[in-house]
Parts: sequence; C-alpha cells; structure tokens
Amino acid sequence: MPYPKRVKMVEVGPRDGLQNEKKSVSTDTRIELIERLADAGLPAVEAGSFVSPKWVPQMADTGEVMQRVRRREGVSYPVLVPNMKGLEAAIAAGAKDIAGFAAATETFSKRNTNCSIAGSLERQATVCRAAIDAGLRVRGYMSVVLGCPYEGEVQPAQVADVVRQLWDMGCYEVSLGDTVGMGTPAKTQRLIEAVSAYVPVEKIGGHFHDTYGQAIANILASLEMGMATFDSSIAGLGGCPYSPGATGNVATEDVLYMLDGMGIETGVDMDALLDTAEFICARLDRPTFSRAGRALGLKRKKAA
Ligand code: HMG
Ligand code: MG
Repeated sequence: MPYPKRVKMVEVGPRDGLQNEKKSVSTDTRIELIERLADAGLPAVEAGSFVSPKWVPQMADTGEVMQRVRRREGVSYPVLVPNMKGLEAAIAAGAKDIAGFAAATETFSKRNTNCSIAGSLERQATVCRAAIDAGLRVRGYMSVVLGCPYEGEVQPAQVADVVRQLWDMGCYEVSLGDTVGMGTPAKTQRLIEAVSAYVPVEKIGGHFHDTYGQAIANILASLEMGMATFDSSIAGLGGCPYSPGATGNVATEDVLYMLDGMGIETGVDMDALLDTAEFICARLDRPTFSRAGRALGLKRKKAA
C-alpha cells in the first residue's frame, strides 16, 4: 500500500507525558506548553485528563487548564474521561473532544481503572452516549495492544474484539496503545490487520511508547498498512503510572523528522518544536529524550 500523503500528528505530551514525569510543572507551564504545541502546527494537542486526582494527581488542574488555554482555530484539545463524573467536569470546562480508554487485558484494566474490561466498556458506553448527545467528539484508546506488563503476550484477536466494541460506541477514531513499547513491526502489522476487520484503517491511530526503541519502526510498519494518525510526545516526555518500566511516548521531533524525510505532509514546524522541547525540558530540569531533537538542537546552537 502506498504511504499516505498526509499524516495527523496527535500531541500527547501535556497529558501522557506530564502525568508521569518525576517533577510536576505549574498550571501556567502546562498551559504555555499546550499553546506552543498548537502554534507549532499540531492539529490535536491532548490537554489533560478528568480522572481521579487520587490516581493521577498531576492532572488535577485540567479544569483550569481547559478554561484558560488559548485555543487555536482548527486545533482539537482532547481530554481523557473514564466515567460520568469526568464527563461532567470536562463539559463544564468547555471540552469539545474527549477520549475514553479501555485495555486488552484484565490485569491492566484493573490496575488502570479499578475495573474489569467488561465493566470499563460498560462505563465507557454510558460516557460515549452522553458525550455524543451533548455534541462532543469521542476518541477511543486501547491499552496494552502489543504486550502487557502483567500478562505478557497479547493476541491480536483479543485486541480487535475490544476495539470493535469501542468503535461501535461511536468513537471517531481508535488509538492503539503500545503502553510498554513491547511491540515490533511484524507484530504491529498483524495487529492492524486484525483491527482493520472492524475499523477502517484511516480511523486507526498508533500510540507507541518507546521503551524498547521500536516506536519509529512500528510507525513505519503502520504507515505501510495505510495508517495516517500517530500520537507522540514532545521531547519523549512521560510513561504510564501503571506500567512499570515504561518510558515515554515516541518523541514528536523523531516522528516529524521521519515524516519530513519521507515527504509526508503534517503541517508541523520543526523549529517551533525544538523551541518547545527546550522550554519544557528546562521546566522539568531534564534533557530531551528525542534523538532527532538532540541532534538538530546541537546543529542549531552551532549555527547561531
Ligand atoms: P475508583 O477508585 O474505582 O473510583 O477509580 P470511585 O468511583 O470509587 O471513586 C473514588 C474517588 O475518586 C472518589 O472520591 C470519587 O469522587 C473520585 P472520594 O469520594 O474518595 O473523595 N473520582 C473522581 N474524581 C475526579 N474525576 C473523576 C473521578 N472519578 C472518581 N473522573 C477511576 C476509578 C476510573 C476513577 C480511577 O481508576 C481513575 O481515575 N483511573 C485513571 C487512571 C489514569 O488516568 N491512567 C492514565 C491514563 S490511561 C493511559 O495513560 C494509557 C494511554 O496513554 C494509552 C496507552 O499508552 O496505553 C491512554
Ligand atoms: Mg500512553
């Protein structure tokens, strides 16, 4: 299959990234990060989550973030919502786009949402119906699609069955989460083959964490299957609080470097990304995890 001409890059650093950084940042910093990312041309910037602050305290200020952030025309700002309480808070804060989440294994589901797969799907179905009735758009996330930190191997058919249920709830897109980054390219393609029996391939997103250094290879394997939506995190921020050993998402700069090199349009500006990575790494007091970001940053400094 030919590579898509254009890819939608979904930035998840302000949520997936910051929810698991050692150092937390102020609300002002999170707002500035989101605004800079949108200004850099990213069409979707995940702004936070309306989950229990006891479970993920770093996202407790998402209501304020959503109320204060300057929104750019044409950019979406999805927020994670696990239940009706989260949906009510999201609507009150002016969210137009929410993301529901489920997992492919029982153990991960229990650790992430204190609930079985069936129970979380039931909860998501209620949220989805209410959100769509209220005029919101719903994205679906599936975790541990290429391996589970607790249960190990995950079969494509097992994932496809849960994805089908999320899709049938009316999600506009389902993002496949390689939560611990265990996936490899051939396995990724087998998974996409199984999922695309239920969801059109252009509605499937890829959400690759980079623990084993396979994320870019898995994105290329997904592009070969016709996928055109990928989640990534500026400077490779983050991890997952319920996945021991997981590192952050693939870095946005690394994904953009590859897509630019392949002539695939994204609308995202690399220089603005590098500035944004410098900004957030300074606030977190840690170096970038992006290989392309590091190399291009050094080149920029030399040229200055
Ligand atoms: P629970 O403890 O079973 O819920 O948690 P509960 O209904 O019994 O409520 C417990 C307390 O939380 C109560 O407060 C509720 O009011 C409060 P208390 O009475 O004890 O003071 N509460 C809430 N507060 C604010 N907003 C809410 C909310 N709901 C309840 N929405 C629950 C169940 C789902 C809430 C919990 O397990 C939870 O919040 N889980 C979220 C975990 C999370 O955010 N994980 C990370 C995001 S998923 C991810 O990173 C994967 C992804 O990136 C893809 C990938 O990489 O795989 C998307
Ligand atoms: Mg994730």
